[in-house]
Amino acid sequence: MDRIFSGIQPSGEIHIGNYVGAIRNWVKLIDHYDCIYCVVDYHAITVEYDVALMQKRILETATILVACGLTPERCIVSVQSHIPEHTELAWIFNCVTPVGELERMTQFKEKGRRHRHNVNVGLLDYPVLQAADILIYKAGYVPVGEDQVQHVEFSREIARKFNARFGKTFPEPQVILSEAPRILGTDGSAKMSKSLNNAIGLLDPPEVIWEKLRTAATCEHRQRRIDPGHPEHCNIFTMHQAFSKPDQIAFVDEQCRTAGIGCIECKEILFKNMREELVPIQTRVQEINGKPGYLIDVLRSGAARCKAIATEVMDEVRQKIGIKPAWLSP
Ligand code: TYM
Repeated sequence: MDRIFSGIQPSGEIHIGNYVGAIRNWVKLIDHYDCIYCVVDYHAITVEYDVALMQKRILETATILVACGLTPERCIVSVQSHIPEHTELAWIFNCVTPVGELERMTQFKEKGRRHRHNVNVGLLDYPVLQAADILIYKAGYVPVGEDQVQHVEFSREIARKFNARFGKTFPEPQVILSEAPRILGTDGSAKMSKSLNNAIGLLDPPEVIWEKLRTAATCEHRQRRIDPGHPEHCNIFTMHQAFSKPDQIAFVDEQCRTAGIGCIECKEILFKNMREELVPIQTRVQEINGKPGYLIDVLRSGAARCKAIATEVMDEVRQKIGIKPAWLSP
């Protein structure tokens, strides 16, 4: 089976953008590919963070992945730092990566502006580690949301550069986009993101979700209840497309355009569907939290399975780049 790799940062609050943009798609893919899904903790330290909370955030993120259906019987769930080969390969990739290409990355420029006081080398090097995450498993496919497409394309570049210099070693990984690759935040203007304070958390209780939805921005053309709307310009409609059934989506589309229903009624339908999908996940999170040791076993076996693949690939890489002496066993 072809291999898939994807990653998620332990950012403290996994939101519905992560869910419909990536995680839900990851679940769909596990029966068709050999899948590795990883909590990328080393990526999360490129911005300022609370050391005391990091372990909790890593475990909470892994718990959510398992609760969404990424169980160890069906795929591998791991934590990036448990497999040091990721960072080792990143160093080697650093040596085939022109600095100028990293400086041109959209996310680097954007994060650089937001974290002006802390533009560290890790922030610049972030896509190189991401390429190493994917290529240490020779993964051919990477399911992500739209904001990560540039980084995956960059990892193709790195594979190409490495292969050209040292001989064919890595595949050129391809993006798999979900049906909802870009969900905006409740402000209706920027991508949903924890750091922008516009996110609906996957673990938010229903009343919190409703309050965020109730006050969320809608189509700007609908100032009054009687104004016809333009669903194609409304983030609530994008969320309907991610959470509602086809007949409901058609109903909302038509009713919005003709001012048949108001924004609140439209949001109520969305809320009901969101709640139906999220509450079972929240219940499974609680079940996992109630089984001490279960998640540790998942991550321990995930690390061992990843390590077996990564060790072999690193051995091949060391040979190819000429630094493996004959007397050193892998
Ligand atoms: P991260 O942690 O920001 O996001 C995890 C996944 O969620 C998707 N996503 C969204 N999709 C739709 N709408 C949104 N508003 C939204 N916000 C986030 C992201 O596209 C992503 O697929 N650099 C990566 C993590 C990473 C990685 C990797 C991914 C590290 N190594 C190797 C793939 C392969 C990141 O920060 O994702």
